[in-house]
Amino acid sequence: EELADAIRRMPKVELHHHIEGAAPPAFVRGLASEKGLDVSDIFDPSGAYEYADFLQFLNVYEQAVRPLQTPRDYARLTRAVLEEAAAHNVVYLETFVSPDFCGGGDVGAWKEYVHAIREAAAEVPETDLRIVVTAVRHFGADKARAAARCAQEAAGDFVTGFGIGGDENAGHLSDFTYAFDAAREAGLRLTAHAGEWGGPRSVRDAIEHLKVERIGHGVRAVEDPKLVEYLAAAGIVLEVCPQSNVALGVYPSTRAHPIDKLRDAGVTVTVSTDDPPFFHTTMTKEFEELATAFHWGVDDFRRLGLTAADAAFCDPDTRAALK
Ligand code: ADE
Ligand code: ZN
Repeated sequence: EELADAIRRMPKVELHHHIEGAAPPAFVRGLASEKGLDVSDIFDPSGAYEYADFLQFLNVYEQAVRPLQTPRDYARLTRAVLEEAAAHNVVYLETFVSPDFCGGGDVGAWKEYVHAIREAAAEVPETDLRIVVTAVRHFGADKARAAARCAQEAAGDFVTGFGIGGDENAGHLSDFTYAFDAAREAGLRLTAHAGEWGGPRSVRDAIEHLKVERIGHGVRAVEDPKLVEYLAAAGIVLEVCPQSNVALGVYPSTRAHPIDKLRDAGVTVTVSTDDPPFFHTTMTKEFEELATAFHWGVDDFRRLGLTAADAAFCDPDTRAALK
């Protein structure tokens, strides 16, 4: 109990979080009903998101996004998401936002969404928000290029990164080199989902082809000791989301999760929720599970926070304030 309280009170830095994936089911149902949309088939009888595997998860995710149709809808989502983050003492949050869902890749529309999200975020100053623009891998390379163009046009002190998520088995990461090069040239920091469904090869591909400094998940790197050594030496940061991996069946339990092994091998690991209501998780729950599974304590969590601050896609003053 004491540890649980201490964990909840600790200031936290979260780097891997999808804004739509953080939408509470009640929020999605409420918005859908305002717009006369039927989204009932994505929920189980208890009202929770329902999916049986990763591809169904992606499908349910895209259904849940349907009611989010205007900048104002994203502003409401942003407030709801930040209030929840603040309740867990998340003092700094990077969230993935996709131009595909915010104006369909049109630069002018995208800028209105970013403006609305930024204004809403200012109403919840307890949690300092940054946007990592994200491409959706199974939407293809053309859409990713449009996303990168949107990212370039919005790049600054609020939109600070570019990434890619979605179905890791769709296409090859080298298809997205052009988009990542464009984002890098605009001064954006880079991350890519890899090593969640794909093995170590996919983590290597992200580093070689996209030249990212962080990897979303990346946990399957553990299957290749040489790659683990490389990640440790190069200081590549893993955005590890343990409860996401357990909920989607990458690993059967927290105890079976490789985060402990990766950390002990010197890999730079951070901890995030990914899509909290989809995986019935929060930052507090993530830490509690790690405390139970690996006997991590307050010092370990403090170290995680410092590591995440170092890896944050923000300006040096903001980073310094997080430590
Ligand atoms: N989009 C949202 N959550 C994701 C995940 N865990 N993997 C890939 N794409 C995602
Ligand atoms: Zn993710």
